[in-house]
Amino acid sequence: MNRRKVLTRTVSAAALLGLMQPKEVRAAASLPDAALFSASPEAYWKRIRTEQFLLPDWRVYLNNGSLGVPPKPVVDAVCESLTRGAGLLTDEYPRWGYETMDAQRTEYADFLGCKKDELAFMHNATEAMSTVAGGLDLKAGDEVLITDQEHPSGRGPWLQQQARHGIAVREVAIPLPPKSPEQLVDLLISAIGPRTRVLSFSGITSLTGLVMPIRQICGAARAKGVITVVDGAHMIGQIPFRLADLGCDFFAGSPHKWMFAPPGCGLLYIREEMLDRLWPNTVTGNWDDKSLKAARFMMVGTNNRAVFDGMLEGLRFHKAIGSERIYSRIHQLARMVYDKASRSPYVELLTPADDRMYGSLTTFRFKSKDTAAFNALCKKRRMWIIGGDNLRVSSHIHTRPSDIELLFSTMEETMGAKA
Ligand SMILES: Cc1ncc(COP(=O)(O)O)c(C=O)c1O
Repeated sequence: MNRRKVLTRTVSAAALLGLMQPKEVRAAASLPDAALFSASPEAYWKRIRTEQFLLPDWRVYLNNGSLGVPPKPVVDAVCESLTRGAGLLTDEYPRWGYETMDAQRTEYADFLGCKKDELAFMHNATEAMSTVAGGLDLKAGDEVLITDQEHPSGRGPWLQQQARHGIAVREVAIPLPPKSPEQLVDLLISAIGPRTRVLSFSGITSLTGLVMPIRQICGAARAKGVITVVDGAHMIGQIPFRLADLGCDFFAGSPHKWMFAPPGCGLLYIREEMLDRLWPNTVTGNWDDKSLKAARFMMVGTNNRAVFDGMLEGLRFHKAIGSERIYSRIHQLARMVYDKASRSPYVELLTPADDRMYGSLTTFRFKSKDTAAFNALCKKRRMWIIGGDNLRVSSHIHTRPSDIELLFSTMEETMGAKA
């Protein structure tokens, strides 16, 4: 068979499977148009929920902070990628783990505001944080400062180094809620001592959704010669930012939370000047090829390419709707939670009122320990929330104002009776 015939056959097989349609066009074409958004934003978001997501009407999902929901185009992209791989329709291995994935990293890096060579794809923020803590040359007596608000994935990797190599990990307490961004900068920077080598903190904290003044903290730490590590698990897709502006040395991300990626997608940013100072943890043949730059940290053995195809589709979906539009919607919903919680007699807020200090996560503490009836009714109503004594509410673009109403009316029904 001549080359032309092979090509025609490949193209028609791909077309048959719907593989040749440009994804960006497909995602954008199926979104409701801008005129609807101008005429009725609520109608626009309603259509986004019902047309773009697989969430059934009965599901109230308020735990996006633990794991986000991939929209339909992302699910399609993952399936198509697996199908394409299984059919070997292209001449590339359908995997990552030995590949530098330059085109994909360039697309993501452009959005994040960094260079392709500073970005490595990983499985999640946990892996990225472990790569940094395990890969820096720290010695006994060196100090790492963290806060008392770190997620286990931002604390554990440093504690392991403490147990293994005798570094010292010191925690700085963050007030709940803090008074101002300036107070936070002051607390962290004044805690830096003569042995402090690293300052590692969450850009948005897990427990209360506090948005830290990252740029100011990183700038002041760098001026003192301290390496900064930002656990940005909650940042990508929740708040607009550019990595180059943050000024951190390392950044760990989990786009499967707020950026519509399928589960198992993470990112590690390594500022160019730090690339040669980090040892990779999982290694194979090219472990010492520094010309690979950040891609050296992606030489980890065979992995599933389809999830990264999904991750890119999630990025395109986000861009098609627009970062500003998404942020203002999800923060508006979080503000709704904030206002309702501030008027509720049953809870006290841990999230600060200052709009600069939270994005789409709002956390409050129940005044009563007796939350069993509330939790049971939430479960019965198929409301997915995360909580115990504290309740953290996540709002994303699929969240309906009625979901938030239902949360608070459930509280009233179960707690009001006891008051
Ligand atoms: C601040 C923070 N860091 C890290 C993680 C771990 O994220 P992943 O499970 O995606 O690695 C989480 C998860 O909720 C988190 O909230």
